[in-house]
Amino acid sequence: MKVLGISGSLRAASTARAALKIALEGAAAAAAAVELLDLRELDLPLYDEDQARYTPANREAITRLQNAAAAADAFILASPEYHGGPSGVLKNAIDHLTGSHFKGKAAGIVTVAGGRVSPVTTAHMLRIILRQLHAYAVPQQVAIPAAEKLFDAAGNPADGELSERLRELGTEVVRLARALAHSS
Ligand SMILES: Cc1cc2nc3c(=O)[nH]c(=O)nc-3n(C[C@H](O)[C@H](O)[C@H](O)COP(=O)(O)O)c2cc1C
Repeated sequence: MKVLGISGSLRAASTARAALKIALEGAAAAAAAVELLDLRELDLPLYDEDQARYTPANREAITRLQNAAAAADAFILASPEYHGGPSGVLKNAIDHLTGSHFKGKAAGIVTVAGGRVSPVTTAHMLRIILRQLHAYAVPQQVAIPAAEKLFDAAGNPADGELSERLRELGTEVVRLARALAHSS
């Protein structure tokens, strides 16, 4: 059972990545193999259906993303809220994938916002994208307002209850992935 985490912020001190790491700890505690695909380390180009302008490094990054997604049994997507929706970074990564990477697989959603309003709408937008790709998003989701205040500089959460919810999300994703594996 493999769970792939993809985070939609390239920021070094990203709270979305910090939250995703904790959700993946929950998946690992449920005996899944976990991987956090850090988009900061990939030279992923803006998706271009013509592909003509892709460099060799771009192509390598796309293959790395696609192979990781193909090998995954489940996903946890994390995104900052940018202007009321998921970040372009995450959507661009998803655009490099197809329904074949997601179909029939379990997924979990984490969103973070700078403001005090919970980024639930952004989580719902990701849910709609996952539905379009025929993935099964677990009903639990973690939408974190004022995220900067909830993590210290090292990315450790100051809020034990939040950590618990993130870990539970990871566990639920693995539980659904196992149920789907047994039903096919
Ligand atoms: C382009 C942009 C748009 C943003 N839009 C929103 C927004 O609509 N609502 C909000 O609460 N925060 C907004 N923010 C703040 C981010 O959600 C916040 O800084 C978040 O923690 C960034 O995630 P990160 O820590 O993973 O980089 C925006 C930030 C940027 C850069």
